[in-house]
Amino acid sequence: MHALCSLALRICCPFLFHRRSAPPPPPQSAVIPSRSVPVSPWRACGMEKEREDSDTERERAEPLSDTERAIVQDTWARVYESCEDVGVAILVRFFVNFPSAKQYFSQFQHMDDPEEMERSTQLRKHARRVMNAINSVVENLHDPDKVSSVLGIVGKAHALKYKVEPMYFKIISGVILEVLGEDFPDYFTPEVTTAWTKLMGALYWHITGAYAEVGWVKLSSSAV
Ligand code: HEM
Repeated sequence: MHALCSLALRICCPFLFHRRSAPPPPPQSAVIPSRSVPVSPWRACGMEKEREDSDTERERAEPLSDTERAIVQDTWARVYESCEDVGVAILVRFFVNFPSAKQYFSQFQHMDDPEEMERSTQLRKHARRVMNAINSVVENLHDPDKVSSVLGIVGKAHALKYKVEPMYFKIISGVILEVLGEDFPDYFTPEVTTAWTKLMGALYWHITGAYAEVGWVKLSSSAV
C-alpha cells in the first residue's frame, strides 16, 4: 500500500522527488573559480580591498612643465651648495615640530634640544641622505622612470626596513617648502614656490606608490 502511494505521488508530482534526490546547484557567487595564478596574499588577508582603496585615493601629482623643471633645477643648484646645513635645518624643524617622528631614530628619539639634535651624527647622516635623494630626483627630472625608481627605492626602504608611517612624508614635504622659502627668500618667489610644491607632490605620490606596492596597511592614524 505504501509503495503504491509512493508510486502515485511520483507520477503526479515528479518535482517533489527531483528536489529531494538532487539538491539545487550552489548560487553562482558561491562557486570558487579555478585560478591559474596563485592566490594573492593580500586577498587571503583581506587586504586587497584596502590596497585598491588606497590606490584610488591617491591623487596623481600634477606634472611639472618644462619651465617649472628648469626653475626647480636652478633653485636647487643654490640650495645644494649648502646641502648639509639646509638638510639639517629641515630635519631639526621637522623633529621639533613633530616630535613623534623621532621614534624611528634610536640615537635622538629622546632629544628635545634643537642644538643637541643638530649635533647628532644620525640626524646629520639622514640629512645628507634626504638631500642626496632629492638631488637625484632633481637631476633626473627629464627622466620619469629614473625619478620613479629613485623614489621607489626610498619609499620601499622606509616602508619595509624602517616602518615609517607614510603621512610623515607629507609633513616633511611641507617642512621642506617652509625652510627653503625662509632660507632662500630671494629665490622662492610665488612662481618658484609653485614649481617646488608640485615637486613635493610628485615626491609624495611616488613614495606612497611604493608603500602601496609593498602592501602597506594603515595601522594607526594617531602617530602625530
Ligand atoms: C624627503 C623625505 C626623505 C628622504 C628623501 C629620505 C631618504 C632616506 C634614505 C635615502 C635613507 C637610507 C635608505 C636605506 O637604508 O636604503 C633613509 C633612512 C632613514 N630614514 Fe629617511 N628619508 C626621508 C624622510 C624620512 C622620514 C619622514 C622619516 C621618519 C619620520 C625617515 C626615517 C628614516 C630612518 C629611520 C632611516 C634609517 C636611519 C639610520 O639608519 O640611521 N625618513 N632616508
